[in-house]
This record gives sequence, C-alpha cells and structure tokens, in this order.
Amino acid sequence: MEIFKNDFGCELHGLNINSLTEKDEKIIKSSLYENRLVIIKNQTLTNQEYVDFANKFATPVPYLQENYHHPDHKEIFVSSNIQKTKDKMGVARTGGYWHSDTAFEQNPKVLTMLMPKVMPKTIKRTTRFIDMAKVYQAMSLKQQQTLSKMTFIHSGRWRYKVRPEDINLDLTEILAMIHAVQPPVEHPAVITHPFTKEKIIYASRGFTIEVKNEGLDQSKVILDELFDFAEQAQFIKEVTWNLGDLIIWDNRFLQHSSGRQAAVGENLQAEITKEEETMMFRITLLDGMPLCDSLRENAGVAIPEMEV
Ligand SMILES: [Fe+2]
Repeated sequence: MEIFKNDFGCELHGLNINSLTEKDEKIIKSSLYENRLVIIKNQTLTNQEYVDFANKFATPVPYLQENYHHPDHKEIFVSSNIQKTKDKMGVARTGGYWHSDTAFEQNPKVLTMLMPKVMPKTIKRTTRFIDMAKVYQAMSLKQQQTLSKMTFIHSGRWRYKVRPEDINLDLTEILAMIHAVQPPVEHPAVITHPFTKEKIIYASRGFTIEVKNEGLDQSKVILDELFDFAEQAQFIKEVTWNLGDLIIWDNRFLQHSSGRQAAVGENLQAEITKEEETMMFRITLLDGMPLCDSLRENAGVAIPEMEV
C-alpha cells in the first residue's frame, strides 16, 4: 500500500478491499482520523462487496428515511437524479448545503463512506469540506471558551425533501410530522474527538438551528457569526471524485457541501432538469467510539477504546 497525502485528506493506492489484512484496516483507520478523509483508489466493487466492506470496517446504519434506500441494500443511501424507470432509485440533489451527515440524530453516524457510481460527463463531481478542528484552532481563546460552554440544537427540518406521498400536506403539517419522527437534538458545541483528543466545533449551517437557552434571535446572531467565520475560503477544501474511488470521512471533524448549484428563481424545475446525471452510493456508520469524549461517561454503557 502507498499513502499519498494531499493538501486535504489522503489517497491510499495498491489496496484490494476484498482481501484486506488486519494491518491494512488499521492503517486505513489511523489515516482516516489523522487526515479526516481517505480515498481508497481504483476499486471495482459490486454493491454486495461494498456493503461487506462497510460491515467489516465499522457498523453501517441505514438512513432513517426508507425512500433513500437502495432497493436491495438498505444500508446504501442513494443520491441520484437518474429518472429512467429502470435505473430510478433514491433521492436527487442531496447535500448541497453545509452539513455534517446525521448530526440531527441523537446518536449521529460518525463516519460516511461514498462510492461514485455515475459521474457527470462535462463537469467535475466535487464535494467541499471544512475541518472544524482547524476552525476551532483559528479562534481566540475567549471565543473558544465561550463556545465550549454552549450546547447547540440540531434538526434536519429545513432540509427535508418532500416525497410524492406528502402531496396533500401543507408545510406546517410536514414540519409537525418531521418533529414527531425526528425531534431536534442537543450536542455540545465543542466536542473532543475520542481518538485524537482534538477539540472540534460540531455545527453546520444546514442542521444547527439554535443555541440552547439563548432564544431564537440571539441564537441566529451567534450561529451566523460562527458560520461566516467557518465558511471562509481559507478553510474550504474541494475534492473531486472519480469512478473507482472509495471515500471515507469522519463527520466529527468535517462538515461538507456537495458541489452542486442551488436552484434559484422562478423556474427551479426547468433548471433542475438541465442537470447532468449523477449517482452516488453512501453508507453512514458508527465506528465503536462515541461522538465525543465526554459521552463516554454519559453513555451508560462501557464503550471500548478503539485500537488502531
Ligand atoms: Fe452529506
């Protein structure tokens, strides 16, 4: 195996996912936590092999909404805008805003795996990332101390994608349904990574909706200031995907946004139909460690230290 460190993340070459040794797995895991993101290059995997690898590497957890699931593998979340009847599955235009996958859940899935299946022909398929440990490090001591005392509230409500069966519901009813299924959750604003022990701001403009005990107006002031700081060009790293890539990243460190453009204006549907076909298979996983160090004591059960 050869490891190439990029400006952001690293590439692993010369690996065959179907015949990994224990040593290979340990190297992948330590590279992941050290570099935040790894790209295992030149893999040609069946869907079953992809799921088998995910099960070997960590614990895949199917997404809470079934309309995203691959018909044969519920662990796979399908992001696809392919409309042909034969190939139609999953949900189109996912993740085009800053977020950390499943942060709106009580027990967020801390790792994301991605396998590109269909790539656009004329444009690059990219995802942008922000390392929130770097953002924390760039803050003043006073800002760090203020944030460390805060609890943030997260919800996926503003990013819910309306399904065909929601057609007779008004937006208020849809919001009430989302609240019943997945009410807002609290996480510490600053978490300590359970493996590297680094401090990280766990927040994103897409899913972090409020600061606990601050009220909506003051929350907006605090969060806008935080996100305006975090989303500066100096912190944003763009990665281009290629067929054959198997990507893994740590959602504790990274927030991300897919490279697609938001549709704006009056003719949204006309704009969307012009988009090129793309399909990505995502699996979200638990890695045997809590979201952050302090949860180890609070979890009520012994969570083993991971050896990598
Ligand atoms: Fe995402």
